[in-house]
Amino acid sequence: MEFRPSSNSEIDSWKEVTLIYNSALKEIETRLEILNDEFQHIHRYNPIEHIKSRLKSPESIVKKLKRHGYESTIENMVNYINDIAGVRIICSFTSDIYQIAEMISNQSDIKILSVKDYIKNPKPSGYRSYHIIVSVPIFLSDRSADTKVEIQIRTVAMDFWASLEHKINYKFEGNAPVFIKNELIECSKIIYELDERMLSLNEEVLKYNETAEMQR
Ligand code: GTP
Ligand code: MG
Repeated sequence: MEFRPSSNSEIDSWKEVTLIYNSALKEIETRLEILNDEFQHIHRYNPIEHIKSRLKSPESIVKKLKRHGYESTIENMVNYINDIAGVRIICSFTSDIYQIAEMISNQSDIKILSVKDYIKNPKPSGYRSYHIIVSVPIFLSDRSADTKVEIQIRTVAMDFWASLEHKINYKFEGNAPVFIKNELIECSKIIYELDERMLSLNEEVLKYNETAEMQR
């Protein structure tokens, strides 16, 4: 199941679409790096641990279109697939997630198309993350193209859980035994508690440092 452009003009459009989505990834990454640098400058602290980005493969795009009952055309990809460009932001603390989401949504030329808070409302699998679909303008020689990017924001601990769960599901082709699924849900709760405790611990450390500085 592959996307095979059938004419030269389709090949050209596919190349242009790829170029635009790649540019959108670069645009979002640069903006995030700037926010992280500024945060470091003001608060002497980096809210972002690291950033990963990827373009969805043509095979996965076609698979998803099929799953939703759409024909494999470039127009359908652009209109219906929101995660062709994907950026994953990994932070230390849950509070960082909401701050980063706020900073992104405050950028005047970025439109927020949807928000899914799987931290407040985890998925039945136990999955936790904060998802936003944004649209960012990409300035080309003769026009600007509003381009969709899926941004997933999660803590290091949530990322650890999600990557293990993904591997397990891959191994069992999505049909993991119930006891394994239940164990994953249990681990997700532990991870939530761990995130909460690490956040409180960090707040205690900050308070301690402030008091120590005042006494100096
Ligand atoms: P997809 O068709 O998977 O893209 O789902 P969607 O369009 O309904 O969006 P949703 O916000 O539910 O999920 C988007 C992405 O979040 C997925 O592609 C995964 O990267 C991640 N995700 C969602 N649910 C889970 C889960 O249960 N486990 C893991 N490991 N990742 C998940
Ligand atoms: Mg997806």
